Amino acid sequence: MDKQLLINTANTLMAGTKGLLAMDESNGTCNKRFAQLGIPQTPEARRDWRELIVSTPNLGDCISGAILYDETIRQQQKDGTPIIKAIINAGIIPGIKVDTGAKPMAGHPGEKITEGLDGLCKRLAEYAQMGARFAKWRGVITIGQGIPSGACIEANTHALARYAALCQEAGIVPIVEPEVLMEGSHNLQQCFETTEEVLYNIFNQLYKQGILLEGMILKPNMIMPGLECPTQVSTQEVATTTVRCLLQSVPAAVAGIAFLSGGQTGEMASAHLNAMHQKDMPQLPWPLTFSFARAIQQPAMTIWNGQEINVKPAQEALLQRAKCDQSARMGVYNEDM
Ligand code: 13P
Repeated sequence: MDKQLLINTANTLMAGTKGLLAMDESNGTCNKRFAQLGIPQTPEARRDWRELIVSTPNLGDCISGAILYDETIRQQQKDGTPIIKAIINAGIIPGIKVDTGAKPMAGHPGEKITEGLDGLCKRLAEYAQMGARFAKWRGVITIGQGIPSGACIEANTHALARYAALCQEAGIVPIVEPEVLMEGSHNLQQCFETTEEVLYNIFNQLYKQGILLEGMILKPNMIMPGLECPTQVSTQEVATTTVRCLLQSVPAAVAGIAFLSGGQTGEMASAHLNAMHQKDMPQLPWPLTFSFARAIQQPAMTIWNGQEINVKPAQEALLQRAKCDQSARMGVYNEDM
């Protein structure tokens, strides 16, 4: 394992005031978002969308790394430039989603297990050769009646640790993403307890697999009540509860933490991150930033709507959200932005 390479990459991804952009939706998920807006669900339309993102002027000022999907890393822009080259030229580190999706877990109705370990060693070598320097794997945990089960937490955290080990062996920084979903009627405390349990399990599994914590990034959910919970809470409460949960369960050696947005609006996700960076919050041992997909992309995608003529205003909207998140990481975001 090239420890110094991993540490350097992880530190560069987390440096300064930047964050990550997840643009690694599978074809199915991307198509679903396109369908809602009436955008054609074709490889060309997906390419056009990703080209719009990576050619956004000055995106590299606020984004340190972009996570791609397998289709995208192999695609070229309309002018023939490989998309991965355009990303590197923009001063952004390319990353790749390597899990093959969360599938129904046998014997555990309502729960999922993420697949993709078979053949991963070979795929990572190919991605590294193409220029990817970090990777992402997402495990999904659902809160509901009697779930998550211990079996689901154990299977998903074990898979995440095996993935992380294979990444580090290949010189690729793993982003370890255990997502406790927002869907459901659970309250803030239930989200806290489940996330805490998942994180304890993750770091136990990562320890057993010999993961270099300084060469990995954690991508967790924020601690929030479920979308259908009648008791919603303030921005401040989400921030303090999230920070408390992370301080209790994430070792200080981890290179950084970058949140998923999980279906929050762009404004909400920025406000929550911003509240975690106020002066009266506890001192944090790791950089704390964003790795949003929907919270950065969604307004821009709506403006674009698949039309060439809308590319420029869509890019402006995309950059605006990325800038808001950068400001949130500095604790200077406000909604008027
Ligand atoms: P969201 O920010 O839309 O939750 O996506 C982040 C991500 O990468 C999910 O795997």
